[in-house]
This record gives sequence, structure tokens and C-alpha cells, in this order.
Amino acid sequence: MENKHPASDNTKLTRREALKLAGVGGLGLILGATGMKSLLPSASTSEKAAATPVLADGIIPFYGKHQAGIITPMQDFICMGAFDLTTTSLDDVRKLFQSWTAAAARLTAGQTVDEESGSPHLPPADTGESAGLNPMRLTITFGLGSSFFDGRFGLAGKRPAALVDLPRFNSDEIRKEWSDGDIVVQVCANDPQVAFHALRNLARIARGKAVLHWVQEGFQRTGAADPSGSTPRNLMGFKDGTNNPQVSDPAVANEIVWVQPSDEPAWMAGGSYMVMRRIRMRIEVWDRSALDDQENTFGRHRDSGAPLGKTNEFDDLELDRKDANGNPVIPANSHVALAHMDGKVKILRRGYSYSSGLDARTGQLDAGLLFICFNRDPRKQFIPMQQKLASVDLLNEYITHVGSGLYACLPGASEGGYIGDTLF
Ligand code: HEM
Repeated sequence: MENKHPASDNTKLTRREALKLAGVGGLGLILGATGMKSLLPSASTSEKAAATPVLADGIIPFYGKHQAGIITPMQDFICMGAFDLTTTSLDDVRKLFQSWTAAAARLTAGQTVDEESGSPHLPPADTGESAGLNPMRLTITFGLGSSFFDGRFGLAGKRPAALVDLPRFNSDEIRKEWSDGDIVVQVCANDPQVAFHALRNLARIARGKAVLHWVQEGFQRTGAADPSGSTPRNLMGFKDGTNNPQVSDPAVANEIVWVQPSDEPAWMAGGSYMVMRRIRMRIEVWDRSALDDQENTFGRHRDSGAPLGKTNEFDDLELDRKDANGNPVIPANSHVALAHMDGKVKILRRGYSYSSGLDARTGQLDAGLLFICFNRDPRKQFIPMQQKLASVDLLNEYITHVGSGLYACLPGASEGGYIGDTLF
């Protein structure tokens, strides 16, 4: 079942033990040894089928045709940051991506960011807070914003046509401090400290070449809190992710997520476009609205997650159903009726809840959805969908989009190569 929670951090090995074992016979030994099956994380069916296999001890391979962290089943936490380049040298940028690739490959394998020098007179290479921790399915995903192609590096001619500047959508209140950036780094893991550690150490490596522009953390309920693996709920209390496309099927992922060799430009083949929207929820207003208003807003029942008038979460929406008065059972301006796009336009959603303390101006919680989605061409997928939602979605009464970014997530790198090598 697609939405089974990947309870893959259920490992019995410490990172050090796994690495020792890996050192003896390689990870294949751990995977292959029948007597050691109980050491393996219990991957869900979708994980087994997904293009990004989960190896022992919560390790998701960094190298591959595609970057991990896109169709990878979601981890519990995200720590995401966007960087602005301070260098104007393309050679520096190339070196940065080479260093980041090496660091990301080590970190996702559960190692420190670099070898230690052993000198007590130098700062440690690694900041240390993930010492002894499992990698917890850590993934690190890199993307380029449109400003990356603004001419500083002689790459303006290489900007993908699909990497547009997102239009202003109805009732957007986008703030610069939560938006854009030359490079985005999405870090996900089943542990918040492992995720933070990775972003922090990548920022250290960038010193002198790039600075952080924004950072946003997010969460969902953990595998420990919900071993059943049911669909997570957002901060409005509704199951969120039910009708996501089944991207464990490569044909579906190729259609919806991955840029194809026939798409322009060639250097993006195997990559994907990521949209980030920081969406503030007016949860105090939401909490005062009646249950039937809430359910009509989404077009689904709150408890079961089923489409209105149905009982099972994964039942078809059947938007043409009418009630006794001839009105649609699922209101035409409900969130799912609109986002369904007649079944013709789809995106892969991979968002997290966020909570950033108190909004001092209003005395209300600053909380909502760190909406993230991946699509093959945002001009045909995210943009028309959001244009429709922004104009009439019943949900708009309760939300405001306050941060925004569109990024070209590079294809994956093979061992010996580096993220970005198809472009540079
Ligand atoms: C705070 C903002 C949002 C909340 C709370 C929210 C919540 C939900 C919920 C509860 C569902 C129903 C369950 C499911 O199928 O996952 C849903 C479906 C969906 N949402 Fe959202 N959503 C938000 C924003 C967006 C945005 C910005 C987009 C894209 C532009 C979007 C696209 C979709 C799509 C494509 C579906 C599935 C529709 C279908 O059944 O075919 N959502 N959302």
C-alpha cells in the first residue's frame, strides 16, 4: 500500500556496527545473509518497489540515476535550506558541488562529513552531533533556482525553459526571506538531529562561496508514533497524501516526476522540478469552524479520509455523484475537486508540517504546511493547478502562501561523478 508508513528506522544495528559489518563484507553481505534478516529495516512494499532501495541500517544510496529524496518514501523530518552564492567564479561553484557530493555521499552512508585530521590544534572536520547515530534514511537533494542562471557564471543560456519565475497567484503574500535562493538543499531523515547535522555541515563547506538565504524545518508524525503506517495527517487534522500518484511504478514516475531525455535541456534528463511553498494556516480560525464545513472544504471525511459520502480512504472520488437535491456530493470548489484537475494533471506531493513558534504581531501560532511537490514541467503541472486553487478553493479562507521557490533538481550522480556534472 503506497501510504504505509516506512517504519524503517526500526533498526537493531548502531551505525558503527553496520559500518563495521559493511567493512568486512560490504553491505551486500548484510543484505544477503539470511541469518541476518532481522537486522534489516522493515521496508514497506512501496519501498521495496521504489527505485531508491533502502539498504541495511537506514541507508539510502546517494549515487544513482536520480537523486534520492524525490520518489523516496517520505522520512519523518525535513531540514531544508536555500543558499545564495557569494562567489562569482564558475570554477568555485563546480568545486562546491564536488565537495558537497563527496560530503553528502559520506553523510548518507552514516559517516562523518570528512576524515578527521587528528590534530588537536585544528577545528574538527565534523561538528560531531551525529556521532554514533544511525543515518536514519538520510537523503540530501540539490536544486538550482532561476537566479543561478542570471549571468554571473555565464550559464544564462543554459537556463531550462521550465525553470520559470513563478507567477503571482491570487492572494499570495510571499516574503523574500522565505523564498527563492540560488541553490536549494532538501535534507530529509527519520531523525531531526541527523537532518540538521547534514545541512549545518554542508553550510560549513560552503563558507566563502555561498551563504544561507533561508532555512525551514518540518515534521510529520514519526514511525514510532504510528507503526501502522497509515497516511499522515496535516495540522488541520486531515489525512494528507492519500491520492498521491504511485511513483513506485517507473512508468508513473517517468510521466509525472522525471524530466525525460526528449525534454529540454538534455542536462536535466533524470532530474525533476521542485516547488516549495511555505503555506501558513490560520489554525485558530480553522479550529472554530464546524466539522461539516471542514469536510466540505477538503471534500473528504476527517476521520476516515474517505471522499465525502464514501467510507474507505482509497475509494475513488467520483466527483460526478449528486445528492438528493442534485448538488455535487463533493463541492465543486472543495480542495480535492479542484486539485484533481479532471484526473489529467498530476504532481507528486512531499510536504511536511511546520511550526515556527509564535507570530509576535498577532499572538498566534506560526504554523502550516511546508508544501513541496515534484513535477516534470511546472508550466504544465504545478502552475495551472495552483492557478485554479488560488482562485476559488474553499481552503483559501484558512491559508496564506508566504514563501515560494521553484528549483531544477539535478539528475543523480554516479560514483566518481558529482551532482551538477551534466551542467558544468
Ligand atoms: C495548506 C495547504 C494545503 C493543505 C492543508 C492540503 C491538504 C490536502 C488534503 C487533506 C488532501 C486530500 C488527501 C490527499 O489526497 O492527499 C489534498 C489533496 C490534494 N492536494 Fe492539497 N493541500 C494544500 C495545498 C495544496 C497545493 C498548494 C496543491 C498544488 C498546487 C495541492 C494539491 C493537491 C492535490 C493534487 C491533491 C489530490 C487531489 C486528487 O484527489 O486528485 N494541495 N490536499
